[in-house]
Amino acid sequence: MPKDILKASSLTVSFSDHTVLNQVDFAVKQGEVFALLGGNGAGKSTALKTFLGTVSPTSGDAFVLDMSVKKDINTIRKNIAYLPESVTLYGHLSGVENIQYFLSLGGISRTENEIEQALNRVALQSDARHRSLSNYSKGMRQKTAIALALLREAPVLFLDEPTSGLDPSAIDEFNQLIARLSSQGTTVFMVTHDVYGACQIAHRIGLLHNGNIVGMFERGNQDAIDTEAVHSAFSKRDL
Ligand SMILES: Nc1ncnc2c1ncn2[C@@H]1O[C@H](COP(=O)(O)OP(=O)(O)OP(=O)(O)O)[C@@H](O)[C@H]1O
Ligand SMILES: [Mg+2]
Repeated sequence: MPKDILKASSLTVSFSDHTVLNQVDFAVKQGEVFALLGGNGAGKSTALKTFLGTVSPTSGDAFVLDMSVKKDINTIRKNIAYLPESVTLYGHLSGVENIQYFLSLGGISRTENEIEQALNRVALQSDARHRSLSNYSKGMRQKTAIALALLREAPVLFLDEPTSGLDPSAIDEFNQLIARLSSQGTTVFMVTHDVYGACQIAHRIGLLHNGNIVGMFERGNQDAIDTEAVHSAFSKRDL
């Protein structure tokens, strides 16, 4: 049985008197792609930020690789990679230069060959790699950011609305990449309000509403999660 890589345990987050997450519990296993799904303002990004340590639990706790975000956030940060909704890379540098720069900020050294291999894994076209990033499409920027995450060798990947703004073929490519990473053992935690996208990519979906997980959907052996069932649960909650 794969072990739990992420865990939220009675996780509660309040801002002044507004409770955004109310004693939330869930766990994500190694190699699993877990999607937290919910409407705007449901608390998805807040949950994700708790794992990154940029939001602190008001009560309860969140764990990455059995380490508490309250006690071990610095070690946790070495083991995770985060893709924000809008990827922040430098437009005047090339994809390869961006990767070299951000790796050096993290004190990580990788050979040019290793960087090329990571860019091969995310299938960033070769002729773009040494061109200025200001001419990249959103999908190409995202591939560069994922290659950077791969080079950091983080066992856990956090993604906030990863497919928003991508065209259907870029989404397909992205889904294939995440499936490959997951089959190689990377654990993926993503937050999204895209029911269809979540059903395509996730092994399990937690539906977040009013600070609680109100539904959990799991992929069968062969079958993807049923989009209709999730959509119906989601829209019922949205009323
Ligand atoms: N730092 C903060 N201070 C006060 N309130 C906050 C803070 N961060 C988030 N909130 C509030 O918490 C609630 C949940 O926000 P969050 O960003 O987690 O939602 P979300 O599910 O990611 O929504 P979206 O789909 O729009 O990205 C919102 O009401 C938001 O205003
Ligand atoms: Mg959000």
